[in-house]
Amino acid sequence: MSQIPTYVTGVPNGTEKGLYMAVDLGGTNFRVCSIQLLGDSTFSHTYNKVAIPKHLMVAKTAQELFAFLASEIKKFLEEHHTEDFEHHVRRRKTVSSPNGFKDEHIFRMGFTFSFPVKQVGINKGTLIRWTKGFDIPDAVGKDVCALLQEEIDKLHLPVKVAALVNDTVGTLMARSYAAPGKQGSVLGAIFGTGTNGAYVEKLSKLKKPLGGEYDKSTGEMVINTEWGSFDNQLNVLPSTKWDIALEKESLNPGFQMYEKRVSGMFLGEILRLAIIDLLNNPNVSFFKDENSSSNDRGSVTIISKGSGLYKQWGLDTAIMSTAELDQDPELSGLRQALENTLEVYAPAYEDALAFKKIAQAIGRRAARLSAVAIGAIILQTGKLEDPEYKDEPIDVGVDGSLVEHYPGFRPMIYEALSAIDGIGEEGAKRIRIGLTQDGSGVGAALIALVAAGMEKNTS
Ligand code: BG6
Ligand code: GLC
Repeated sequence: MSQIPTYVTGVPNGTEKGLYMAVDLGGTNFRVCSIQLLGDSTFSHTYNKVAIPKHLMVAKTAQELFAFLASEIKKFLEEHHTEDFEHHVRRRKTVSSPNGFKDEHIFRMGFTFSFPVKQVGINKGTLIRWTKGFDIPDAVGKDVCALLQEEIDKLHLPVKVAALVNDTVGTLMARSYAAPGKQGSVLGAIFGTGTNGAYVEKLSKLKKPLGGEYDKSTGEMVINTEWGSFDNQLNVLPSTKWDIALEKESLNPGFQMYEKRVSGMFLGEILRLAIIDLLNNPNVSFFKDENSSSNDRGSVTIISKGSGLYKQWGLDTAIMSTAELDQDPELSGLRQALENTLEVYAPAYEDALAFKKIAQAIGRRAARLSAVAIGAIILQTGKLEDPEYKDEPIDVGVDGSLVEHYPGFRPMIYEALSAIDGIGEEGAKRIRIGLTQDGSGVGAALIALVAAGMEKNTS
Protein backbone atom coordinates (compact mmCIF):
# COMPACT_ATOMS: atom_id res chain seq x y z
CA MET A 1 0.00 0.00 0.00
CA SER A 2 1.11 3.59 -0.51
CA GLN A 3 1.20 4.45 3.25
CA ILE A 4 1.48 8.19 2.55
CA PRO A 5 2.87 10.46 5.28
CA THR A 6 0.51 13.43 5.61
CA TYR A 7 2.64 15.91 7.59
CA VAL A 8 -0.23 16.13 10.09
CA THR A 9 1.43 15.34 13.39
CA GLY A 10 -1.39 15.34 15.89
CA VAL A 11 -5.15 15.16 16.26
CA PRO A 12 -7.19 18.04 17.72
CA ASN A 13 -8.72 18.08 21.19
CA GLY A 14 -11.82 20.19 20.60
CA THR A 15 -10.52 23.52 21.86
CA GLU A 16 -9.45 24.88 18.47
CA LYS A 17 -11.10 28.14 17.30
CA GLY A 18 -11.34 30.30 14.16
CA LEU A 19 -12.97 30.85 10.78
CA TYR A 20 -11.63 28.72 7.95
CA MET A 21 -12.66 27.62 4.51
CA ALA A 22 -12.63 24.09 3.18
CA VAL A 23 -13.32 22.50 -0.16
CA ASP A 24 -13.88 18.82 -0.64
CA LEU A 25 -13.46 17.00 -3.94
CA GLY A 26 -14.78 13.51 -3.24
CA GLY A 27 -15.80 10.84 -5.72
CA THR A 28 -19.19 12.30 -6.63
CA ASN A 29 -19.64 15.78 -5.15
CA PHE A 30 -17.70 18.98 -4.68
CA ARG A 31 -18.38 20.86 -1.47
CA VAL A 32 -17.30 24.37 -0.55
CA CYS A 33 -17.73 25.46 3.06
CA SER A 34 -16.72 27.95 5.67
CA ILE A 35 -16.39 26.70 9.20
CA GLN A 36 -16.40 28.55 12.45
CA LEU A 37 -14.66 26.38 15.03
CA LEU A 38 -16.11 27.40 18.37
CA GLY A 39 -13.52 25.79 20.61
CA ASP A 40 -15.89 23.62 22.64
CA SER A 41 -15.93 20.59 20.32
CA THR A 42 -18.65 22.27 18.28
CA PHE A 43 -18.65 24.30 15.10
CA SER A 44 -21.06 26.04 12.78
CA HIS A 45 -20.71 25.75 9.08
CA THR A 46 -22.21 26.91 5.82
CA TYR A 47 -21.78 24.91 2.69
CA ASN A 48 -22.66 24.51 -0.97
CA LYS A 49 -22.62 21.11 -2.61
CA VAL A 50 -22.66 20.39 -6.32
CA ALA A 51 -22.40 17.14 -8.27
CA ILE A 52 -19.14 17.03 -10.21
CA PRO A 53 -20.10 17.10 -13.90
CA LYS A 54 -19.23 13.71 -15.42
CA HIS A 55 -17.36 15.22 -18.39
CA LEU A 56 -14.96 16.97 -16.00
CA MET A 57 -14.06 13.66 -14.33
CA VAL A 58 -12.48 12.60 -17.60
CA ALA A 59 -11.55 16.07 -18.94
CA LYS A 60 -8.65 16.49 -21.37
CA THR A 61 -6.77 18.91 -19.13
CA ALA A 62 -6.48 19.34 -15.38
CA GLN A 63 -7.10 23.04 -15.87
CA GLU A 64 -10.72 22.39 -16.93
CA LEU A 65 -11.51 20.60 -13.67
CA PHE A 66 -9.67 23.06 -11.42
CA ALA A 67 -11.18 26.11 -13.15
CA PHE A 68 -14.59 24.64 -12.33
CA LEU A 69 -13.60 24.21 -8.67
CA ALA A 70 -12.38 27.81 -8.47
CA SER A 71 -15.59 29.12 -10.02
CA GLU A 72 -17.59 27.25 -7.36
CA ILE A 73 -15.44 28.84 -4.64
CA LYS A 74 -16.17 32.26 -6.14
CA LYS A 75 -19.92 31.54 -6.16
CA PHE A 76 -19.77 30.46 -2.54
CA LEU A 77 -17.95 33.61 -1.42
CA GLU A 78 -20.36 35.84 -3.33
CA GLU A 79 -23.34 34.02 -1.85
CA HIS A 80 -22.30 33.47 1.77
CA HIS A 81 -19.55 35.96 2.49
CA THR A 82 -20.76 38.87 0.40
CA GLU A 83 -19.49 41.57 2.71
CA ASP A 84 -16.10 40.00 3.26
CA PHE A 85 -15.81 39.34 -0.43
CA GLU A 86 -16.59 42.89 -1.49
CA HIS A 87 -14.34 44.24 1.21
CA HIS A 88 -11.51 42.04 -0.08
CA VAL A 89 -12.07 43.14 -3.64
CA ARG A 90 -11.83 46.79 -2.57
CA ARG A 91 -8.73 46.14 -0.43
CA ARG A 92 -7.00 44.29 -3.23
CA LYS A 93 -6.48 47.56 -5.02
CA THR A 94 -4.73 49.18 -2.06
CA VAL A 95 -2.27 46.57 -0.81
CA SER A 96 0.51 44.57 -2.36
CA SER A 97 0.73 40.87 -1.60
CA PRO A 98 1.24 38.09 -4.16
CA ASN A 99 -2.36 38.16 -5.23
CA GLY A 100 -3.00 41.72 -4.24
CA PHE A 101 -4.50 40.97 -0.82
CA LYS A 102 -3.28 41.79 2.64
CA ASP A 103 -2.39 38.63 4.50
CA GLU A 104 -4.90 39.11 7.32
CA HIS A 105 -7.74 39.34 4.80
CA ILE A 106 -7.09 36.05 3.18
CA PHE A 107 -9.18 32.98 3.93
CA ARG A 108 -7.06 29.98 4.73
CA MET A 109 -8.53 26.99 3.03
CA GLY A 110 -8.13 23.28 3.57
CA PHE A 111 -8.37 21.29 0.35
CA THR A 112 -9.77 17.80 0.78
CA PHE A 113 -8.70 15.91 -2.28
CA SER A 114 -9.78 12.29 -2.03
CA PHE A 115 -7.24 10.66 -4.31
CA PRO A 116 -3.73 9.28 -3.78
CA VAL A 117 -1.22 12.08 -3.59
CA LYS A 118 2.50 12.02 -2.84
CA GLN A 119 2.48 14.63 -0.13
CA VAL A 120 5.68 16.60 0.37
CA GLY A 121 4.39 19.28 2.69
CA ILE A 122 1.21 20.38 4.40
CA ASN A 123 -0.02 22.17 1.25
CA LYS A 124 1.97 20.47 -1.46
CA GLY A 125 1.49 17.13 -3.12
CA THR A 126 1.55 15.50 -6.54
CA LEU A 127 -1.18 13.25 -7.84
CA ILE A 128 -0.03 9.62 -7.97
CA ARG A 129 -3.02 8.30 -9.93
CA TRP A 130 -6.72 8.84 -10.25
CA THR A 131 -9.18 6.42 -8.66
CA LYS A 132 -12.98 5.97 -8.58
CA GLY A 133 -14.56 7.45 -11.75
CA PHE A 134 -11.80 10.00 -12.54
CA ASP A 135 -9.28 9.81 -15.35
CA ILE A 136 -7.44 13.00 -16.40
CA PRO A 137 -3.91 11.84 -17.29
CA ASP A 138 -2.74 15.46 -17.67
CA ALA A 139 -3.02 15.98 -13.89
CA VAL A 140 -0.92 12.98 -12.84
CA GLY A 141 2.43 14.05 -11.38
CA LYS A 142 1.28 17.66 -10.87
CA ASP A 143 0.90 19.53 -7.57
CA VAL A 144 -2.87 19.66 -7.03
CA CYS A 145 -2.66 22.57 -4.58
CA ALA A 146 -0.75 24.65 -7.12
CA LEU A 147 -3.30 23.74 -9.81
CA LEU A 148 -6.13 24.96 -7.60
CA GLN A 149 -4.28 28.07 -6.38
CA GLU A 150 -3.55 29.07 -9.97
CA GLU A 151 -7.25 29.02 -10.88
CA ILE A 152 -8.21 30.83 -7.64
CA ASP A 153 -5.68 33.55 -8.42
CA LYS A 154 -6.99 33.95 -11.96
CA LEU A 155 -10.33 34.91 -10.37
CA HIS A 156 -8.57 37.19 -7.81
CA LEU A 157 -10.16 35.43 -4.86
CA PRO A 158 -8.84 36.15 -1.35
CA VAL A 159 -8.15 32.50 -0.68
CA LYS A 160 -4.96 30.61 0.09
CA VAL A 161 -4.83 26.84 -0.27
CA ALA A 162 -3.21 26.25 3.11
CA ALA A 163 -3.57 22.51 3.57
CA LEU A 164 -3.95 19.42 1.43
CA VAL A 165 -6.02 16.72 3.06
CA ASN A 166 -7.22 13.27 2.13
CA ASP A 167 -10.88 12.68 3.11
CA THR A 168 -9.83 9.95 5.56
CA VAL A 169 -7.46 12.37 7.30
CA GLY A 170 -10.23 14.99 7.42
CA THR A 171 -12.57 12.42 8.93
CA LEU A 172 -9.99 11.47 11.56
CA MET A 173 -9.43 15.10 12.51
CA ALA A 174 -13.13 15.98 12.59
CA ARG A 175 -13.95 12.94 14.70
CA SER A 176 -11.21 13.79 17.19
CA TYR A 177 -12.47 17.37 17.41
CA ALA A 178 -16.13 16.50 17.91
CA ALA A 179 -15.94 13.35 20.02
CA PRO A 180 -12.64 13.64 21.81
CA GLY A 181 -11.99 10.93 24.32
CA LYS A 182 -8.93 11.33 26.47
CA GLN A 183 -7.01 9.77 23.60
CA GLY A 184 -8.68 11.08 20.41
CA SER A 185 -9.53 8.85 17.47
CA VAL A 186 -7.08 6.27 16.14
CA LEU A 187 -8.51 5.80 12.66
CA GLY A 188 -10.56 7.77 10.13
CA ALA A 189 -12.08 5.65 7.38
CA ILE A 190 -14.27 6.18 4.35
CA PHE A 191 -16.70 3.58 3.06
CA GLY A 192 -18.37 5.52 0.26
CA THR A 193 -17.79 5.72 -3.49
CA GLY A 194 -14.27 4.55 -2.62
CA THR A 195 -12.70 3.22 0.57
CA ASN A 196 -9.58 4.19 2.49
CA GLY A 197 -8.25 4.78 6.00
CA ALA A 198 -5.84 7.11 7.80
CA TYR A 199 -4.37 6.43 11.24
CA VAL A 200 -1.93 7.86 13.73
CA GLU A 201 1.49 6.16 13.58
CA LYS A 202 4.63 6.62 15.69
CA LEU A 203 7.35 8.53 13.82
CA SER A 204 9.80 5.86 14.97
CA LYS A 205 7.90 3.25 12.99
CA LEU A 206 7.99 5.16 9.69
CA LYS A 207 10.41 3.66 7.20
CA LYS A 208 10.09 6.34 4.50
CA PRO A 209 12.42 9.33 4.73
CA LEU A 210 10.47 12.53 5.46
CA GLY A 211 11.52 15.83 3.94
CA GLY A 212 10.00 19.27 4.52
CA GLU A 213 8.74 21.04 7.63
CA TYR A 214 6.75 19.25 10.29
CA ASP A 215 6.33 19.34 14.04
CA LYS A 216 8.33 16.50 15.58
CA SER A 217 7.24 17.14 19.15
CA THR A 218 4.29 14.75 19.19
CA GLY A 219 6.39 11.84 17.93
CA GLU A 220 3.50 10.87 15.64
CA MET A 221 2.20 11.41 12.15
CA VAL A 222 -1.07 10.66 10.44
CA ILE A 223 -0.59 8.13 7.64
CA ASN A 224 -2.93 7.85 4.68
CA THR A 225 -2.80 4.13 3.98
CA GLU A 226 -4.60 4.15 0.57
CA TRP A 227 -5.83 0.71 1.56
CA GLY A 228 -8.02 0.65 -1.55
CA SER A 229 -4.94 -0.71 -3.31
CA PHE A 230 -4.31 -3.44 -0.73
CA ASP A 231 -3.29 -6.72 -2.39
CA ASN A 232 -3.39 -5.58 -6.01
CA GLN A 233 -1.59 -8.86 -6.74
CA LEU A 234 -4.64 -10.76 -5.44
CA ASN A 235 -2.63 -13.02 -3.14
CA VAL A 236 -5.29 -13.13 -0.45
CA LEU A 237 -8.37 -11.24 -1.63
CA PRO A 238 -11.31 -13.36 -2.74
CA SER A 239 -12.05 -13.18 -6.46
CA THR A 240 -15.20 -14.30 -8.16
CA LYS A 241 -15.73 -14.36 -11.90
CA TRP A 242 -17.80 -11.20 -11.49
CA ASP A 243 -14.89 -9.42 -9.77
CA ILE A 244 -12.72 -10.42 -12.70
CA ALA A 245 -15.29 -9.21 -15.26
CA LEU A 246 -15.60 -5.85 -13.44
CA GLU A 247 -11.83 -5.51 -13.33
CA LYS A 248 -11.42 -6.01 -17.07
CA GLU A 249 -13.81 -3.17 -17.86
CA SER A 250 -12.59 -0.77 -15.17
CA LEU A 251 -10.80 2.55 -15.77
CA ASN A 252 -7.77 1.42 -13.74
CA PRO A 253 -7.16 -2.32 -14.22
CA GLY A 254 -4.66 -3.74 -11.75
CA PHE A 255 -5.28 -1.06 -9.11
CA GLN A 256 -7.67 -0.60 -6.18
CA MET A 257 -8.40 -4.35 -5.98
CA TYR A 258 -9.56 -4.16 -2.35
CA GLU A 259 -11.66 -1.06 -3.09
CA LYS A 260 -13.30 -2.84 -6.02
CA ARG A 261 -14.61 -5.50 -3.62
CA VAL A 262 -15.67 -3.12 -0.86
CA SER A 263 -16.86 0.31 -1.93
CA GLY A 264 -20.12 1.75 -3.14
CA MET A 265 -18.99 2.55 -6.67
CA PHE A 266 -18.40 -1.14 -7.39
CA LEU A 267 -20.92 -3.20 -5.40
CA GLY A 268 -23.83 -2.40 -7.71
CA GLU A 269 -21.75 -3.37 -10.73
CA ILE A 270 -20.76 -6.72 -9.15
CA LEU A 271 -24.44 -7.35 -8.48
CA ARG A 272 -25.37 -6.42 -12.04
CA LEU A 273 -22.78 -8.79 -13.50
CA ALA A 274 -24.01 -11.66 -11.29
CA ILE A 275 -27.60 -10.98 -12.33
CA ILE A 276 -26.68 -10.91 -16.03
CA ASP A 277 -24.99 -14.28 -15.58
CA LEU A 278 -28.20 -15.72 -14.18
CA LEU A 279 -30.23 -14.20 -16.99
CA ASN A 280 -27.94 -15.85 -19.53
CA ASN A 281 -28.19 -19.24 -17.85
CA PRO A 282 -30.76 -21.34 -19.73
CA ASN A 283 -31.19 -23.61 -16.71
CA VAL A 284 -32.29 -20.82 -14.41
CA SER A 285 -35.70 -19.23 -14.54
CA PHE A 286 -35.00 -15.70 -13.41
CA PHE A 287 -36.86 -12.53 -14.33
CA LYS A 288 -38.81 -14.50 -16.95
CA ASP A 289 -42.46 -14.18 -17.96
CA GLU A 290 -44.53 -16.80 -16.13
CA ASN A 291 -47.14 -16.83 -18.86
CA SER A 292 -44.85 -17.21 -21.81
CA SER A 293 -44.70 -20.37 -23.97
CA SER A 294 -43.05 -22.92 -21.66
CA ASN A 295 -45.29 -22.39 -18.66
CA ASP A 296 -42.51 -23.07 -16.04
CA ARG A 297 -41.96 -19.31 -15.76
CA GLY A 298 -41.31 -19.23 -19.49
CA SER A 299 -38.28 -18.03 -21.36
CA VAL A 300 -39.31 -14.51 -22.24
CA THR A 301 -37.59 -11.91 -20.10
CA ILE A 302 -39.64 -9.31 -18.27
CA ILE A 303 -36.82 -6.77 -18.41
CA SER A 304 -37.03 -3.80 -20.76
CA LYS A 305 -34.23 -3.61 -23.34
CA GLY A 306 -33.33 -0.15 -22.01
CA SER A 307 -32.88 -1.43 -18.42
CA GLY A 308 -29.76 -0.36 -16.53
CA LEU A 309 -29.16 -4.08 -15.99
CA TYR A 310 -27.80 -4.21 -19.53
CA LYS A 311 -25.42 -1.24 -19.16
CA GLN A 312 -22.07 -1.00 -17.40
CA TRP A 313 -22.58 0.88 -14.08
CA GLY A 314 -26.31 0.79 -14.85
CA LEU A 315 -27.28 -0.64 -11.46
CA ASP A 316 -26.99 1.92 -8.67
CA THR A 317 -25.66 0.40 -5.44
CA ALA A 318 -28.48 2.22 -3.59
CA ILE A 319 -30.88 -0.59 -4.58
CA MET A 320 -28.91 -2.92 -2.32
CA SER A 321 -30.03 -0.76 0.60
CA THR A 322 -33.62 -0.91 -0.63
CA ALA A 323 -33.36 -4.71 -0.78
CA GLU A 324 -31.90 -4.91 2.72
CA LEU A 325 -34.46 -2.53 4.18
CA ASP A 326 -37.46 -4.36 2.72
CA GLN A 327 -38.78 -6.62 5.49
CA ASP A 328 -42.20 -7.02 3.87
CA PRO A 329 -43.14 -10.74 3.48
CA GLU A 330 -43.98 -10.06 -0.19
CA LEU A 331 -40.89 -7.86 -0.74
CA SER A 332 -43.22 -5.30 -2.27
CA GLY A 333 -40.81 -2.33 -1.77
CA LEU A 334 -38.00 -4.08 -3.59
CA ARG A 335 -40.27 -5.31 -6.37
CA GLN A 336 -41.49 -1.76 -6.88
CA ALA A 337 -37.92 -0.47 -6.95
CA LEU A 338 -36.93 -3.13 -9.49
CA GLU A 339 -39.80 -1.97 -11.66
CA ASN A 340 -39.17 1.75 -11.22
CA THR A 341 -35.42 1.91 -11.42
CA LEU A 342 -34.46 -1.15 -13.48
CA GLU A 343 -37.53 -1.53 -15.67
CA VAL A 344 -38.18 -5.13 -14.61
CA TYR A 345 -41.92 -5.52 -15.20
CA ALA A 346 -43.95 -7.12 -12.41
CA PRO A 347 -41.12 -9.17 -10.92
CA ALA A 348 -42.23 -12.26 -8.99
CA TYR A 349 -41.56 -12.61 -5.27
CA GLU A 350 -39.00 -15.40 -5.98
CA ASP A 351 -37.08 -13.14 -8.36
CA ALA A 352 -36.95 -10.33 -5.82
CA LEU A 353 -35.86 -12.78 -3.12
CA ALA A 354 -33.03 -14.14 -5.28
CA PHE A 355 -31.98 -10.57 -6.08
CA LYS A 356 -31.99 -9.72 -2.36
CA LYS A 357 -29.91 -12.78 -1.42
CA ILE A 358 -27.23 -12.03 -4.01
CA ALA A 359 -27.15 -8.37 -2.90
CA GLN A 360 -26.81 -9.50 0.73
CA ALA A 361 -23.88 -11.77 -0.10
CA ILE A 362 -22.09 -8.90 -1.84
CA GLY A 363 -22.84 -6.46 1.00
CA ARG A 364 -21.78 -8.95 3.66
CA ARG A 365 -18.50 -9.70 1.90
CA ALA A 366 -17.84 -5.94 1.67
CA ALA A 367 -18.51 -5.45 5.39
CA ARG A 368 -16.33 -8.41 6.38
CA LEU A 369 -13.47 -7.15 4.21
CA SER A 370 -13.94 -3.68 5.75
CA ALA A 371 -13.48 -5.24 9.19
CA VAL A 372 -10.17 -6.72 8.04
CA ALA A 373 -8.77 -3.26 7.30
CA ILE A 374 -10.11 -1.72 10.51
CA GLY A 375 -8.93 -4.68 12.59
CA ALA A 376 -5.46 -4.68 11.02
CA ILE A 377 -4.93 -1.01 11.84
CA ILE A 378 -6.15 -1.42 15.41
CA LEU A 379 -3.78 -4.34 15.92
CA GLN A 380 -0.94 -2.33 14.35
CA THR A 381 -1.46 0.55 16.80
CA GLY A 382 -1.23 -1.83 19.78
CA LYS A 383 -4.04 0.12 21.51
CA LEU A 384 -5.89 -3.00 22.69
CA GLU A 385 -2.96 -3.80 24.99
CA ASP A 386 -2.02 -0.20 25.80
CA PRO A 387 -2.64 0.47 29.55
CA GLU A 388 -3.51 4.11 28.70
CA TYR A 389 -6.55 2.83 26.81
CA LYS A 390 -7.64 0.45 29.56
CA ASP A 391 -10.81 2.42 30.34
CA GLU A 392 -11.09 4.22 27.02
CA PRO A 393 -12.90 3.14 23.87
CA ILE A 394 -10.73 2.68 20.81
CA ASP A 395 -12.39 5.22 18.60
CA VAL A 396 -12.81 4.97 14.83
CA GLY A 397 -14.50 7.72 12.79
CA VAL A 398 -16.23 6.64 9.59
CA ASP A 399 -17.99 8.44 6.75
CA GLY A 400 -19.31 7.72 3.27
CA SER A 401 -22.55 6.72 1.63
CA LEU A 402 -22.06 2.98 2.11
CA VAL A 403 -21.57 2.99 5.87
CA GLU A 404 -24.19 5.71 6.22
CA HIS A 405 -26.97 4.22 4.12
CA TYR A 406 -26.45 0.46 3.85
CA PRO A 407 -28.51 -1.02 6.69
CA GLY A 408 -26.58 -3.28 9.02
CA PHE A 409 -23.15 -2.43 7.60
CA ARG A 410 -21.66 -1.52 10.97
CA PRO A 411 -23.16 -4.52 12.86
CA MET A 412 -21.67 -6.80 10.19
CA ILE A 413 -18.29 -5.12 10.67
CA TYR A 414 -18.50 -5.69 14.45
CA GLU A 415 -19.42 -9.34 13.93
CA ALA A 416 -16.39 -9.82 11.69
CA LEU A 417 -14.07 -7.89 14.03
CA SER A 418 -14.90 -10.27 16.84
CA ALA A 419 -13.81 -13.18 14.62
CA ILE A 420 -10.33 -11.70 14.06
CA ASP A 421 -7.44 -13.29 16.00
CA GLY A 422 -6.05 -10.81 18.48
CA ILE A 423 -9.34 -8.87 18.72
CA GLY A 424 -12.08 -11.38 19.62
CA GLU A 425 -15.44 -10.57 21.16
CA GLU A 426 -13.95 -8.63 24.08
CA GLY A 427 -11.72 -6.56 21.82
CA ALA A 428 -14.58 -5.81 19.40
CA LYS A 429 -16.65 -4.47 22.30
CA ARG A 430 -13.92 -1.94 23.07
CA ILE A 431 -13.90 -0.57 19.52
CA ARG A 432 -16.26 2.37 18.95
CA ILE A 433 -17.08 3.01 15.31
CA GLY A 434 -18.87 6.36 14.98
CA LEU A 435 -20.29 8.14 11.98
CA THR A 436 -18.64 11.51 11.27
CA GLN A 437 -20.82 13.06 8.63
CA ASP A 438 -19.27 15.62 6.31
CA GLY A 439 -16.18 15.25 8.42
CA SER A 440 -13.81 16.22 5.69
CA GLY A 441 -14.90 19.85 5.65
CA VAL A 442 -14.31 20.34 9.36
CA GLY A 443 -11.19 18.20 9.25
CA ALA A 444 -9.72 20.23 6.41
CA ALA A 445 -10.47 23.45 8.31
CA LEU A 446 -8.67 22.04 11.35
CA ILE A 447 -5.63 21.21 9.27
CA ALA A 448 -5.70 24.68 7.70
CA LEU A 449 -5.56 25.97 11.27
CA VAL A 450 -2.55 23.79 12.05
CA ALA A 451 -0.95 25.00 8.81
CA ALA A 452 -1.51 28.64 9.77
CA GLY A 453 0.38 27.95 13.01
CA MET A 454 3.21 26.32 11.06
CA GLU A 455 3.41 29.30 8.69
CA LYS A 456 3.91 31.60 11.68
CA ASN A 457 6.52 29.34 13.24
CA THR A 458 8.55 29.03 10.10
CA SER A 459 8.28 32.64 8.84
C1 BG6 B 1 -18.26 12.92 2.71
C2 BG6 B 1 -16.92 13.53 2.97
O1 BG6 B 1 -19.11 13.08 3.76
O2 BG6 B 1 -18.05 11.56 2.43
C3 BG6 B 1 -16.07 13.39 1.69
O3 BG6 B 1 -17.07 14.90 3.31
C4 BG6 B 1 -15.95 11.95 1.36
O4 BG6 B 1 -14.81 13.95 1.86
C5 BG6 B 1 -17.33 11.37 1.23
O5 BG6 B 1 -15.19 11.79 0.15
C6 BG6 B 1 -17.27 9.91 0.94
O6 BG6 B 1 -18.56 9.46 0.64
P1 BG6 B 1 -19.09 9.30 -0.84
O7 BG6 B 1 -20.15 8.33 -0.68
O8 BG6 B 1 -19.52 10.65 -1.29
O9 BG6 B 1 -17.90 8.79 -1.62
C1 GLC C 1 -10.13 6.28 -3.12
C2 GLC C 1 -8.99 7.29 -3.07
C3 GLC C 1 -8.65 7.67 -1.65
C4 GLC C 1 -9.91 8.12 -0.92
C5 GLC C 1 -10.99 7.03 -1.02
C6 GLC C 1 -12.29 7.41 -0.33
O1 GLC C 1 -9.68 5.09 -2.57
O2 GLC C 1 -7.85 6.76 -3.72
O3 GLC C 1 -7.68 8.70 -1.61
O4 GLC C 1 -9.61 8.38 0.41
O5 GLC C 1 -11.26 6.76 -2.38
O6 GLC C 1 -12.87 8.54 -0.89
